[in-house]
Amino acid sequence: MAHLFTPKQVGAFVLSHRIVLAPMTRLRTILPDEIPSPMMADFYGQRASEGGLVLIEGVSISKVARSYIGAASFFHDGQIEGWKAIADAVHAKGGYAFMQLIHGGRQSHVEMTGGVDPVAPSVVPFEGVALTKDGFVPVSPHRALCLEEIPGIIEEFRVAAQRAKDAGFDGVELHGANGYLVDQFIQDGTNTRTDAYGGPIENRVRFLREAVEALISVFGADRVGVRISPSGEWGGISDSDPEATFSHVAQVLDSYRIAYMHVIEPRIKGDDTLHEGHPPVAVKYLRRYFSGPIIAAGGFDGDSAEAVVASGDADLVAFGRYFSSNPDLPYRLKHKLPLTPYVRAAFWGGTERHYSDFPAYDATPKE
Ligand SMILES: Cc1cc2nc3c(=O)[nH]c(=O)nc-3n(C[C@H](O)[C@H](O)[C@H](O)COP(=O)(O)O)c2cc1C
Repeated sequence: MAHLFTPKQVGAFVLSHRIVLAPMTRLRTILPDEIPSPMMADFYGQRASEGGLVLIEGVSISKVARSYIGAASFFHDGQIEGWKAIADAVHAKGGYAFMQLIHGGRQSHVEMTGGVDPVAPSVVPFEGVALTKDGFVPVSPHRALCLEEIPGIIEEFRVAAQRAKDAGFDGVELHGANGYLVDQFIQDGTNTRTDAYGGPIENRVRFLREAVEALISVFGADRVGVRISPSGEWGGISDSDPEATFSHVAQVLDSYRIAYMHVIEPRIKGDDTLHEGHPPVAVKYLRRYFSGPIIAAGGFDGDSAEAVVASGDADLVAFGRYFSSNPDLPYRLKHKLPLTPYVRAAFWGGTERHYSDFPAYDATPKE
């Protein structure tokens, strides 16, 4: 029976443990050009471990893809050195770093897109927020993508993956979760198209397929992961039949033999824990449709992470909030040491304070 410290082959890599850093947007790039900052390199280096997997926060692939001011992006040359420093910091600790690539789609605002309307598969108004220089504001009205525009966005995913590779990252994770563009295509609450990208699920996964193929063309399938959130509600996302939709998605991903499928469990909405009774499409359900490694995420602690790995429903567990305040989380879980509480007020932007200044356990002053 596997446990959190049983080594695991994930794509091209043999991981020494199954505790993964979940991708977390922390809004700490240097403005106005969204240069990855030295404190970001500190943050990721601190959370890297020998043979451990680190997932980098959502990185916007273009200007139009952006949703939050100060969030990570990688579409201009001025960002290369900052990203290299982050990959180096993870590698210096013997870890592996996958960069999460995101297009926000309709979750944006004209302030963020450079003045153009945010794009989506279809026009389905919703009450989301974007973060601009004026703070969290209602999203701008979006427009539906023309058929002819889609190859250009897929190409932006490919170029971003190439940039990640050139900067030294070990792989990429496609952000197919949380109601952003890829998810907007997958789920029928946001995709009402009648062309080859809408309608039956085989069509609604076409954008996902093309994006995955673009990433594979750069890295190879064994260095590409995909994150999905079948029960997510963030970004006003919904589907009329999540079980049918996401069992199909899992089978599609399985057919590519990607490094892993990363599933946000039903308990989580954005950065909040939902009530436990939420109707689930969880790893327990999806396991039968995907034969490769599965990462489960969302509301885990050490015991529940051990349990999901022991059950075989997931192979690895990604931790977000606890990893934010416990840079040595694998060590603490291994030795059953107490966890430092996370500081929600520092999640969305700020300085090093409550970001890269959490000490490792051994350095914690003892009473
Ligand atoms: C501050 C913050 C930022 C987040 N940013 C992202 C992100 O960029 N990409 C993503 O897929 N999920 C993001 N998430 C969700 C986390 O990856 C994770 O799924 C969530 O925190 C639940 O896991 P946890 O209970 O271990 O914290 C974010 C969560 C938080 C708290």
